[in-house]
Amino acid sequence: MGIKIVSTGSYLPDKVLTNFDLERMVDTSDEWITTRTGIRERRISEVETTSDMATEAAVRALGESSPEEVELIVVATATPDAFFPSTACKVQAKIENKGAIAFDVSAACTGFIYGLYVADSIMRSKGVSKALVIGAERFSKIVNWKDRSTCILFGDGAGAVYLETSDEEGILGFDLGADGSYGELLAVPSVGSNEEFPYYVRMKGNEVFKVAVRTMVDSALRVLEKTGLSPKDISLLIPHQANLRIIRAIAERLGLPEEKVFVNLDRYGNTSAASIPIALDEALRSGRLKKGELALLVAFGGGFTWGSCVIKV
Ligand code: UT7
Repeated sequence: MGIKIVSTGSYLPDKVLTNFDLERMVDTSDEWITTRTGIRERRISEVETTSDMATEAAVRALGESSPEEVELIVVATATPDAFFPSTACKVQAKIENKGAIAFDVSAACTGFIYGLYVADSIMRSKGVSKALVIGAERFSKIVNWKDRSTCILFGDGAGAVYLETSDEEGILGFDLGADGSYGELLAVPSVGSNEEFPYYVRMKGNEVFKVAVRTMVDSALRVLEKTGLSPKDISLLIPHQANLRIIRAIAERLGLPEEKVFVNLDRYGNTSAASIPIALDEALRSGRLKKGELALLVAFGGGFTWGSCVIKV
């Protein structure tokens, strides 16, 4: 038995916040942001909650498939609507599903790969045959809009994949891990800590940068080794969309040319757990990734956490 990504969907809020808008909010410039990150604009949710965006992405991924038949809903998010119920339970109610297993996964920007891994494992071992895995974030709510070192980076949005058990294998392998000793370099405290509200994203950007490149390259190479593949077998690298310089460094070290690397961070910034499923959806819809081709997904985030996955679409 295999597991296949049957369909995908994504949702981005309408409001666009450009680098020029940010120039009027903090001491920054379009030139600095584009040169250092590759980001030109990002989407900001004014009214949609994380679960609203997750639901819209899920509905688009489901297409004509019946929401009632979904047996498992996993939402990766660092910005849930509530401590509980989980975002996954909120999505479940909104798509009018009853009875599916539904829970959230917390692994920051690596959350979607963690979610995919958990769903894949449950489907293989517990006889679940239809699942939604969603990455959804509303980082605009946890960004300090006075901190130029972080507020220029993030955006809101959601992406979803619909998985079914299948005769064909669509999920070829994973590499996941974490190293909690780096926790303080990229963090958002919350109510369980001794820190005071408001809770904002804080990051030692340049320290994160170095570890991110090395860790994602190592993880990508490990998943290729586990699946018996080499970079030349990969049609498209879909990396977490944090920084164009990070993406280029990874591609270069894997020996992948620009046309085999998917980038949309210029339009959406870093949407954390939503970045890979949004990119995957766009890659499929635009024909950058075609039926039967292999894609390498690779992510890195707070924790530190990392994850890679090879899929055949
Ligand atoms: O998604 C999870 C993983 N996250 C990441 O992978 C993010 C990794 N880090 C990064 O992407 C980059 O480190 C940043 C884009 C966050 C920063 O780029 P950098 O090249 O590492 O810059 P820096 O932090 O070393 O700062 C360089 C200078 C500093 O000024 P001085 O000390 O050299 O005078 C900063 O104060 O740039 C200054 N700076 C800014 N200047 C204009 C920092 N933010 C800004 C800004 N506009 N927005």
